[in-house]
Amino acid sequence: MAFFISYIYTQEVKANQAIGVFDSGIGGLTVASSIQRKMPHERFVYFGDTAHLPYGDKSPAAIRAWSKSIADFLLGKKVKLIVIACNTASSHAYASLKNLLKGKVEVIDVINPTAEYVAKKYTKGRIGVIGTKGTIQSRIYVKRIEKLNKKLKVTSNATPLLAPMIEEGYFNNNISKTIIKSYLDKKTFQNIQAIILGCTHYPLIKREIDELYQGRIEVIDSAEKTAERVKEYLEANSLLAGANQKKNQFFVSDYTESFDKSTKIFFKRSASLKKMNLWR
Ligand code: DGL
Repeated sequence: MAFFISYIYTQEVKANQAIGVFDSGIGGLTVASSIQRKMPHERFVYFGDTAHLPYGDKSPAAIRAWSKSIADFLLGKKVKLIVIACNTASSHAYASLKNLLKGKVEVIDVINPTAEYVAKKYTKGRIGVIGTKGTIQSRIYVKRIEKLNKKLKVTSNATPLLAPMIEEGYFNNNISKTIIKSYLDKKTFQNIQAIILGCTHYPLIKREIDELYQGRIEVIDSAEKTAERVKEYLEANSLLAGANQKKNQFFVSDYTESFDKSTKIFFKRSASLKKMNLWR
């Protein structure tokens, strides 16, 4: 698949180019909207790989291959930065994309900014992580955080029903409350000081998780931490966009009604959605 990435990206990146963002579905919209709240002039080329959703139960090799094709598509759209707005793709494909795109465009993942925030903020004790099977089985949060801060113990459990549930629009209701409670009632999450939402779909159920813990612990949103990292990167490299930007563009590998609805909720004024199958 390496030839997909061999697209020659000769032009230097410029501030008025869009930010490329991708996820398996609507999850990455939480990252894009956090970025837009912090930097209202930025615009996006967003790719939701709805044909392969959910990523959480797919093999690392398949996710790496899909991520490479998506990155190549985004490069073709002349983005100034690629944000892997998916914890599962960040777990399996960040290192290979970063390597393949070296000298072409910067790649920011969702895991490093979140792990670094936690390792710095919490001096010792237990931190919980929830995410897809792929993210949790990779043990990436455990390895990253415990390496950065040896006094922290990271305990994690996969919560595989949550991303499909959210993708289908089931949140803030009794069904979602019951599922969330049964996942978080586990021994793994006793005596934790904070819980990481290790899937970019989960900010949509953050309020429900906050209510469950009644504010006793911090509920950490990987989308928020990633948006902060994007801002730091754009500022440090003089790549912040000015006013009068063009419209956001949204692409999906398969049309889904929930994606269409979500883009309109998140990006009211400028949601144009196109189907783009990169694997035909
Ligand atoms: N939103 C993604 C993540 O952060 C993936 C969810 C899925 O497709 O399983 O992990």
